Amino acid sequence: MENSQLQIVPKTIHPLNRFVTALDVNSLVAKYGTPLYLVDEETLHQKARELHRAYSGFKGPVKVAYSIKANFTPAVVRTFMKDGMTFDLTSLGELHFIRQCNADPENVIYTSVTEEQEEYEQVLKFGAKRIVVSSYKGMINLAKAAAKIGSRPLTMIRVNPEVGVKAEVRASYKNGKFGVPFNGGTIDSATKMVKHMMENDLLKFEGFHFHLGSQITDFSCYTHALDKMDAFMTKMKKEHPNFHVNTFDIGGGTPVFYNDPVPTPSEMAKNHVDRLNQLAETHGIFTLMIESGRFLVAESSILVSRIVNTKVYNDHKIVIVDAGYHILLDAALLKQEYPQEIVPVIDGSDRIASLVAPIKNTHLAGRLCDTYDVFPISKASDLTGADVGNYVSFYNVGAYSVVFNMPFHCQTKPPIVMKDSDGKFRLVRKGTTYEQLFQEEGGDLA
Ligand SMILES: Cc1ncc(COP(=O)(O)O)c(C=O)c1O
Repeated sequence: MENSQLQIVPKTIHPLNRFVTALDVNSLVAKYGTPLYLVDEETLHQKARELHRAYSGFKGPVKVAYSIKANFTPAVVRTFMKDGMTFDLTSLGELHFIRQCNADPENVIYTSVTEEQEEYEQVLKFGAKRIVVSSYKGMINLAKAAAKIGSRPLTMIRVNPEVGVKAEVRASYKNGKFGVPFNGGTIDSATKMVKHMMENDLLKFEGFHFHLGSQITDFSCYTHALDKMDAFMTKMKKEHPNFHVNTFDIGGGTPVFYNDPVPTPSEMAKNHVDRLNQLAETHGIFTLMIESGRFLVAESSILVSRIVNTKVYNDHKIVIVDAGYHILLDAALLKQEYPQEIVPVIDGSDRIASLVAPIKNTHLAGRLCDTYDVFPISKASDLTGADVGNYVSFYNVGAYSVVFNMPFHCQTKPPIVMKDSDGKFRLVRKGTTYEQLFQEEGGDLA
């Protein structure tokens, strides 16, 4: 076998492919099979640096918090630990992962939806200090937990600024489940919660948090939210002379390319850094927290699948792959256009299969017996060579994919291979087997 023959790959590397050659894909698939997730350590570090750098114009300290809901693979968490990242957690399961990875409790911000007292006890026992509360009862539960554990958490209030958000996923809307309004008619309002914390010692008021949504490309919502925060902070200062915000967390939302160009983090930061600086001038310097899941991990990962069948239906070609929405849920849920590219199979005779231009109406369909299991095609997709045996790489799949793996149709979880910063590939999650799934589903309890 002549290596020189193998290296003739009849395609240029797709601009979204950051870290693997066609040869890498072929040899990794030979070892681990398909479907297969690949993740690049260097991209994760780069994204962490890029997001932090984007806010360097802010006059106070800046912290980037990784929302591990986007991808909780321990190898990803450990990668970000090397960057000194803060971790944004929202469940005891995530806390378990962080604890097992030996992350520093100082680097945790905990924002729960359930806000139960026992939950908070475990979070405080772990040593986490920065907690975001989203309801009056949640705040009281935290205070009770703090009294029991003997700690005084730095407590932030999650506000719902009730601004219009244009985003793929909106998290701030009137009467929504997240956070409290500035001035609701009930105890569930930021005004009442600030007052409570100013008058009680169990919790130390630390600041505010909002999260407007995910994949935000129109930044006017931040502008409006910050203007409302400014007015609210002025009002709070008048009512409570000791009022001071130490940490202000503007949540996630930094977008990622799927189908249309999106603004970069520095373009995003440019929209609101001046306003944040004004807030700091008016109300005193605070630590700015930027949360991010999607941006930090999306571009780090590729899902490799294999074309297992094709059929022609009038002038349409249906290309069936061995992946499906059970391992790429947002393709069905959000109609996310993950860019795809065909990677040629390098067969036993060292030949690279010739790549045939796709017919106009080519559809990529998943393996599930479900109408919604069809992959939207991105403007950046290149389906040249979409024929049986070749591979399909789905790009920018690192966020909200692995975490949603599900066994619909008794499907197993694919393995994950990481390319370390030294260039070596390493298995970081084993694939699961049908037998494991059978056991998990109680197969041996009958
Ligand atoms: C509170 C909070 N912060 C941050 C994020 C991360 O958002 P994104 O992945 O868009 O950066 C989320 C996502 O749901 C969230 O709920």
